[in-house]
Amino acid sequence: MLVKANTIFNESCLEGLAKMESESVDLIFTDPPYYQFRAQNVTSLKNHKDVVTEFDFDGYDSEEEYLEFILAVLQECYRVAKPGASGYFFCGDDFVSYINRLVAQAGFNFRKVIHWHKTNPFPAIHTRKMFANSMELIVHFSKGSPNTWNHKHVNEMHNFIETPICMGKERSKHKTQKPLKVCIPYIEISSNFGDLILDPFMGSGTTAVAAALLGRNYIGFELNPEYVEIAHNRLKEVQVKKIKG
Ligand SMILES: C[S@@+](CC[C@H](N)C(=O)[O-])C[C@H]1O[C@@H](n2cnc3c(N)ncnc32)[C@H](O)[C@@H]1O
Repeated sequence: MLVKANTIFNESCLEGLAKMESESVDLIFTDPPYYQFRAQNVTSLKNHKDVVTEFDFDGYDSEEEYLEFILAVLQECYRVAKPGASGYFFCGDDFVSYINRLVAQAGFNFRKVIHWHKTNPFPAIHTRKMFANSMELIVHFSKGSPNTWNHKHVNEMHNFIETPICMGKERSKHKTQKPLKVCIPYIEISSNFGDLILDPFMGSGTTAVAAALLGRNYIGFELNPEYVEIAHNRLKEVQVKKIKG
């Protein structure tokens, strides 16, 4: 059984999750590869690289294959989650109704959809007949009733958050890196110091970095070794900053 906290494993999450102990995780926080239905379905946009390169397709041949994969991951997440653990799952606005159903099918209670408004989205300049994709959604769910809920000021408890996309020094080479500012508030609300946070799709390691900054532990998986290396470098910077104070 895999118990090594504070590790990002370079393997597929389905293989890695299968090695994890049941009921060992306090929070699931993840941002899976998106399957962009809109770009797939609109004929005029088919193969329009400029429109779709913002997203990761990761080789899913069909919607059905993608949905099966996401359900299998969510079922494993349910098994490894402690009773009362929360989960947060990023998705596009065109996919949210599927995720709501899949989290319930996996056994979780759907709680709320959080809207992230990106103040500086990629402009839709390539077609000029589409709005910019300035909104991403985060589905909040839980295994039973959440046992950790660190309520902030009421003004910070809206299901809406507004930040720029990842920029400047924070930005790595990962195409879909999420800003820490979007992740940190929900990790603070739904976990405590020393808790274990699982991210099956670590990418550049944003969940791990947020966990390290907040005194939580992390465990996760990432298929691409280059992204694992980026994540390790980001985590080293956190350690250096902590030592320097
Ligand atoms: C949307 S990105 C995550 C970005 C991350 N939140 C960040 O801030 O960098 C999804 C990641 O899942 C990875 N991935 C895709 N399929 C995977 C699998 N089966 N197991 C583990 N990682 C996978 C991709 O390589 C990609 O880096």
